[in-house]
Amino acid sequence: MIEKIRSEFPILGTKVHGKSLVYLDSAATSLKPQSVVERLSQFYNFENANVHRAAHELSATATENFERVRALTCKFINASSSSEIIFTSGTTDSVNLLANSLTSSFLKSGDEIILSEMEHHSNIVPWYMAAKKMGLVLKMISVDESGELDLDHLESLITKKTKIISLTYISNVLGTINPIQKICKLAKNKNILTVIDAAQAMAFMRVDVRELDCDFLAFSAHKMMGPFGVGVLYGKSGLLEKMPPFHGGGGMIDEVKIENITFADVPFRFEAGTPNISGVIAFGKAIEFLEAIGFENISKLELDLRSYMDSKLREIKGVKIYGKPKEKAAIISFNIEGVHASDVASVVDQMGVAVRAGHHCAQILMRKLAVHAVVRASFGIYNNKSDVDRMIVAVEKARELLL
Ligand SMILES: Cc1ncc(COP(=O)(O)O)c(C=O)c1O
Repeated sequence: MIEKIRSEFPILGTKVHGKSLVYLDSAATSLKPQSVVERLSQFYNFENANVHRAAHELSATATENFERVRALTCKFINASSSSEIIFTSGTTDSVNLLANSLTSSFLKSGDEIILSEMEHHSNIVPWYMAAKKMGLVLKMISVDESGELDLDHLESLITKKTKIISLTYISNVLGTINPIQKICKLAKNKNILTVIDAAQAMAFMRVDVRELDCDFLAFSAHKMMGPFGVGVLYGKSGLLEKMPPFHGGGGMIDEVKIENITFADVPFRFEAGTPNISGVIAFGKAIEFLEAIGFENISKLELDLRSYMDSKLREIKGVKIYGKPKEKAAIISFNIEGVHASDVASVVDQMGVAVRAGHHCAQILMRKLAVHAVVRASFGIYNNKSDVDRMIVAVEKARELLL
């Protein structure tokens, strides 16, 4: 199966520094299968038109295809209705929408929002900006030694003023899979809204919003085989209907008079301006691609590779792997004692292996781990055992050269 999957990613034939590419940076962005890339060019070559505007045939077809992907996305995450799916430009955009619209509709000065120490900056900065503007209080759940959220600490942070808990499903550094269903239940019992950043979860595991019973869920197409510039915000319709728009412009109004403007229904109220039409339509192909392989196969293949890499890395002297949570996705962050992470990544790159080094937009977590940077290897459905072997040889070489 894996060879057939790999054949759908022509980029794997690319040479990097004269060597064939080993791509271990899927947590930053996944590779895109040919079907997604071809759908983009088909749209521009033969179907190019704006949606929801003109009555001509191409526009009607583009609208139909665009709305079909909304319905497909609804089914993919098991939402109750397509109107619960808002297309954005990515996870960051989705969280910004919430941090503006949700806080202005449901929160007042002094109210509290709980985040965690393992959040990506895109689930911290928008809330911070809203907190500054509205006088809200931000609190952080601490991460324990094993890289898990301290749930006792979470309970101790909750007060009568807690209105939102916004958490990542999977840590983009530690790979920790958080007990989101449990946390949503706890929040619901206390009338607290839940926002889930599922950026790292969507290409790895089945995400079912009704099973989780979260109020909002944000994710990016480009991390799940789809194009750049497309994201999704899921929200329960009862809540979305009470929220004001975030961006203003064309396509999101009911009637405009200079003295009064009324807004379109959900979800269009939140989609001002021309959306990324080609991107959304091609995103449909990404969903079909993931569904065709099946999440059981995806998770198993990636977890097997992660365990294999984990055990091989541990054999290398001086390697420290961060986090040992019970539930962990296919992400490994590590350092070699005495060597800077970016030097490791650049030696490894010279050998054709793409990994990432840095703070991974998680400076609060870096501080907790007492490091400035880590090297991160992250897997996709197109990786194989030989990729891990090449990575291990490259890390050994880095250690030899840099120590
Ligand atoms: C956990 C997590 N949240 C949010 C984001 C931001 O995603 P985007 O840049 O696509 O908006 C990322 C990207 O790395 C991420 O890993």
